[in-house]
Amino acid sequence: MFESMKGMKRTHRCTEVLNCKIGEKITVMGWVQKRRNLGAMIFVDLRDISGLLQILFDETYIGKEGFDKAYTLRNEYVIAVEGTIEKRKGAVNESLATGELELCATSLRILAEAQTPPFPIEENSQTNNDLRLKYRYLDLRRPDLQRNFIKRSEVASIIRNFLIGEKFLEIETPVLCKSTPEGARDYLVPSRVHKGSFYALPQSPQLFKQLLMCAGYDRYFQIAKCFRDEDLRADRQPEFTQLDLEMSFVDEDDVMDVTERMIAEIFKKIRGVDVQLPLQRMTWIEAMNRFGSDKPDLRFGMELKDISDIVKNCGFSVFANAVASGGSVRLINAKGQAGMPRKKIDALGDFAKDYGAKGLAYLAITEDGGYKSSFAKFMTEEELSRIVSAAEGEPGDLLLFAADKNKIVWDVLGALRVHLGDLMGLRDPETFRFLWITEFPLLEWSDEQGRYTAMHHPFTMPMEEDIEKLDTDPGAVRARAYDIVLNGTELGGGSVRIHQNDIQEKMFEVLGFTPEKAQEQFGFLLTAFKYGVPPHAGLAYGFDRLMMLLLGQESLRDVIAFPKVKDASCLMTDAPGEVDEKQLEELGLSLSGQEN
Ligand code: AMO
Ligand code: AMP
Repeated sequence: MFESMKGMKRTHRCTEVLNCKIGEKITVMGWVQKRRNLGAMIFVDLRDISGLLQILFDETYIGKEGFDKAYTLRNEYVIAVEGTIEKRKGAVNESLATGELELCATSLRILAEAQTPPFPIEENSQTNNDLRLKYRYLDLRRPDLQRNFIKRSEVASIIRNFLIGEKFLEIETPVLCKSTPEGARDYLVPSRVHKGSFYALPQSPQLFKQLLMCAGYDRYFQIAKCFRDEDLRADRQPEFTQLDLEMSFVDEDDVMDVTERMIAEIFKKIRGVDVQLPLQRMTWIEAMNRFGSDKPDLRFGMELKDISDIVKNCGFSVFANAVASGGSVRLINAKGQAGMPRKKIDALGDFAKDYGAKGLAYLAITEDGGYKSSFAKFMTEEELSRIVSAAEGEPGDLLLFAADKNKIVWDVLGALRVHLGDLMGLRDPETFRFLWITEFPLLEWSDEQGRYTAMHHPFTMPMEEDIEKLDTDPGAVRARAYDIVLNGTELGGGSVRIHQNDIQEKMFEVLGFTPEKAQEQFGFLLTAFKYGVPPHAGLAYGFDRLMMLLLGQESLRDVIAFPKVKDASCLMTDAPGEVDEKQLEELGLSLSGQEN
């Protein structure tokens, strides 16, 4: 039996009763969290977006009919209650904001009944993820998730106020765009009017924001939906939100300065954390050499040490050969881990193999100063002692080595360092270590495509002193690109853009575009730049990632209201789904048969 709200108006949210006077008559509405019967009294915890409030149903105040109705209440019923606010007669509940008060009900309406939910609506749910996502609207009722989305909305508001205060304009850009071949795979949308043609959903508003600079808008921002058809991980979703911005007449310092002040304000307001400005900066090559990663977690040390010089002529062929063929041998020192059982060391080896390692050599320094090692027998005493001293090794330490091409050595030891950081409890969740990574390589060689690809995107400016190497040694050209990193996660990235047509054309040439192909793909941008384009630069933060780290969550799922799962489907709506034959016909499409 559903009752109407007619004639009843909510006066307060549950926790707003803290502002009420004792004896005040109010009306609240929400969900039944729990009902307890104590003979002549029934207690109900009522939940709304603000929190919980205890309601007392006592026949003396609500009458027999109301009391009997209260008796039928079950979890998740939606009710409206009128009553007076009183001090609790029973024990105070310290864990509730409203724990000293209760609403003594004088009238009750059941606005909606509810089936028993498939899992309890409670904090820190232990329910498995798939079930939670299938019933996401119930999952979203949980207070911990509700807090996340309240904070997400607050942060969006802080961002808007901050950037508008810095003279940025919020401008929307299209979602139906043209497909461009750089970057991740596009999501395509077939056109009904232009059969056989497709829009692409934007991977980012990149080209439009540059055109807005060309159009004179000076400073732009947008909280923009982006779409990328890539393999998903805990920190990657197929559709996600960027805080995207672009500025005219600036260089990298201006972009970093304004956005790091914004970040500091967000962390202060939401977490009470003082972020020291300016943020640390580190070049890409330094980050790779010291941490094996372009997104180093600076909360702990365990830095990589290059021992190529020491081992280049040693008797252990794995090491000597790696150096001889142009690679390197590097190590990390897992302090105090010498006692790690062989099985666990082997597990680290398997972990390393996932990152491309052929093996993981180790050397444990025993308490008596001796060695336990997979390769020590091939080395001289002197070589061993030089290695140990390079590693700042002490009795009780475990040294782990990778020998290969630099890229593999960095990847392996970079990942292993973070893995060990987790195992050894070195990644303190209450510490926030930001840094900017600068001077990225402009280009990356793709074995798969047999050509260079842009490490950031094709509109990123090379460093002036490297421009001539575009012809001679493209792989060595550094970019005026920068990433902001927090605790080992890339939060955002951007660059100074190319605004000179000759450099842009050169860049397309290096990327293997013919002039015709470049014109076909990006002609509108190249043309626009012929009509007076200001120097400009910008950056995009992953807004979901920012929220995930700010709130100490493990997965983007905890900060995206309706996320997708690993295979990019939505367990609640079952998207993607098949469409009618008629819809396909209208679009001029037919399916080729077998799914693979
Ligand atoms: P970039 O590709 O580095 O730069 O993206 C910027 C930031 O967006 C976030 N991000 C993601 N978050 C969740 N799921 C994903 N699949 C995902 N992919 C990226 C990351 C990343 O740092 N147009 C440029 C920016 C610019 O040059 O101004 C761009 O999109 O936090
Ligand atoms: P092997 O001679 O292949 O039995 O390897 C001896 C030790 O070196 C083992 O602990 C291997 O895991 C390790 N190892 C093999 N290849 C590499 C490599 N490329 N880098 C580091 N260690 C390796």
